[in-house]
Amino acid sequence: MDKTIDVAVLVGSLRKKSFNRLLAGALGELASPSLALRIAEIGDLPYYNEELEETPPATWQALRERIAAADAVLFLTPEYNRSVPAVLKNAVDVLSRPYGKSALTGKPAAVISSSPGALGGFGANHHLRQSLSCLGVRTMPTPEAYIGGIGSMFDEQGALSNAGTRDFLQKFMQSFGQWIAMTGSKRA
Ligand code: FNR
Repeated sequence: MDKTIDVAVLVGSLRKKSFNRLLAGALGELASPSLALRIAEIGDLPYYNEELEETPPATWQALRERIAAADAVLFLTPEYNRSVPAVLKNAVDVLSRPYGKSALTGKPAAVISSSPGALGGFGANHHLRQSLSCLGVRTMPTPEAYIGGIGSMFDEQGALSNAGTRDFLQKFMQSFGQWIAMTGSKRA
């Protein structure tokens, strides 16, 4: 039996050199080998429009199926104007429908926010948690992760070189693994 836990990673930045995208790679290495992290791309989703539900765009369907098939979801978000970047909010809106059949409902999840600034994306982190809460996502309450100063934490090769943050994120991913085991994976 396959004991690998399939974690879909949603990254709230489309930038090629995004710190959050770099973080996704670092977390894949820091997490236990039993957690397989894979980014689910969200950059090509048409803006959510209920009128499109009659024949949903293929990219909406693909993301819904990807999340339904995952054991858990990890959200990595920057903060835009003290909130969740539109691209990530759009993905959550797409995943929230059809009404009552959201692929996110019941999924174990975790949120990590980051920023080059000192506050670590606290506002984005909690706005995102608010949306996840109304969808019945089982978001890990603690440990919380607000990574400030992210702009100076990677070396020139894009590796996470800050020892303290590596240690913190390794423990965070251990907790997330325990949270997934405790809340039960919801693979469709
Ligand atoms: C930002 N940034 C930002 N940072 C922050 O800590 N709080 C904020 O409210 C904002 N607001 C904001 C709005 C917009 C439109 C942009 C483009 C940027 C800065 C942001 O944290 C920074 O650009 C990060 O590097 C974005 O994350 P990625 O792309 O590196 O993953």
